[in-house]
Amino acid sequence: MTNGVKDPVIETTLTVNGTAVTRRIPARQHLIDFLREELGLTGSHTACEHGVCGACTVRVDDRIVRGCLMLAVQADGRKVDTIEGLSDSGELADLQEAFHRRNALQCGFCTPGMLMAAQDLVIRCPNAAREQIREHLSGNYCRCTGYQAIVDAVEDVLLARRGKSAI
Ligand code: FES
Ligand code: FES
Repeated sequence: MTNGVKDPVIETTLTVNGTAVTRRIPARQHLIDFLREELGLTGSHTACEHGVCGACTVRVDDRIVRGCLMLAVQADGRKVDTIEGLSDSGELADLQEAFHRRNALQCGFCTPGMLMAAQDLVIRCPNAAREQIREHLSGNYCRCTGYQAIVDAVEDVLLARRGKSAI
């Protein structure tokens, strides 16, 4: 904080991966920093911190959001799910398997955010075609894969959930 003025701290209660959490949170702390630094949930990454790359994607009340664009105190009373929660619950199991089988990750930095965005598509748009997959994932940057394998993996899961392929 500049000018010697301290950031106000606000008591905030949110549910993170099914567990209620109450903390006194600096008013200007971003949700992704709270999750990573205060709760140790480092699966979601930070990169651009400007809402561009998608590395920080988490779910708030069942909608994906950029954790770097939302203040942690704005999550008061809300449900937050991270890659850790979705992974532990098995919700992402088929997507994770498809990413692995299709070589849809290399360094893996983008992968948590990519999986969160992919799961959002699979839930909301189960009949999505390849172009819709590309469109939906266009806000998640990957520097390694060229995206083709990622789209292949998501398409596999969409087809499998529709009972049309052999995952
Ligand atoms: S770190 Fe949030 S969008 Fe890039
Ligand atoms: S696998 Fe390296 S950024 Fe996507």
